[in-house]
Amino acid sequence: MREKSTTFADYQKIEFMPRLPFISFEGSEGCGKSTQIARLADRLTKAGIPLLVTREPGGTPIGEKIRHLLQFAPESVAMTPEAELLLFEASRSQLVREVIQPALDRGTVVLSDRFADSTTVYQGVARRLDQEVVALLNSFAVGHCWPDLTFLLEIDAPTARTRMLRRVRPAAGIDRMEQEPLKFYEEVCLAYRDLAKREPHRIQVIDARGSIDEIEEEIWEIISSRFAHLTQLISPPKRSRRS
Ligand SMILES: Nc1ncnc2c1ncn2[C@@H]1O[C@H](COP(=O)(O)OP(=O)(O)OP(=O)(O)O)[C@@H](O)[C@H]1O
Ligand SMILES: [Mg+2]
Repeated sequence: MREKSTTFADYQKIEFMPRLPFISFEGSEGCGKSTQIARLADRLTKAGIPLLVTREPGGTPIGEKIRHLLQFAPESVAMTPEAELLLFEASRSQLVREVIQPALDRGTVVLSDRFADSTTVYQGVARRLDQEVVALLNSFAVGHCWPDLTFLLEIDAPTARTRMLRRVRPAAGIDRMEQEPLKFYEEVCLAYRDLAKREPHRIQVIDARGSIDEIEEEIWEIISSRFAHLTQLISPPKRSRRS
């Protein structure tokens, strides 16, 4: 997690500017979420924008324990889909109230690596839990703190799989979700696409087959056009004056 102190919150109060955005990144494993978040975070940080980067599940001490339980603990082999859903929502409830909402309130951009849409897709569709229950629990966990913008990095399941296999493994080992068959990922991709059709204003679909640089530029263009008050804060590089 990264953060810079700033006077933006005070500036916001004086100028009645809208708060800085909460942006989530979604898509199947290996689509490039973490890569693009790192690029965007770097850009914002260099521009002096106050920023908080978080991830789901996790992002708080309680959430990180839940993350370990969900993804890597040997006991998770016996976990039911219902228990899995509730653990994701528990982690999210904590993250929203302990980290995301306070950061937005003090005038910080928040980037989240996955958020509630992941639960809609993975638990609601791929794990075939009751989608109304999933929607209800999502709204209970999130409250009013929905992202202003969500980037859905869309990629076909075989390409995502190839990227995942090429990736350097974290010390904790293979994630439980990564052991699912290809069909599971195909369902995930379709479910994300359906969700984007239902919420076209919030969810921006990006073709994630392009190069890392191309995708970074596309994401930046969208952010610049959607959040003019954010780009206004980025001052152009100072020109040296000749006397
Ligand atoms: N546009 C791209 N073209 C080619 N390779 C890419 C691209 N974006 C990311 N990669 C590579 O693919 C791998 C997976 O990327 P990344 O870890 O960012 O995906 P992710 O969506 O965060 O996956 P996960 O959900 O499993 O965390 C990494 O090795 C990364 O360098
Ligand atoms: Mg990642």
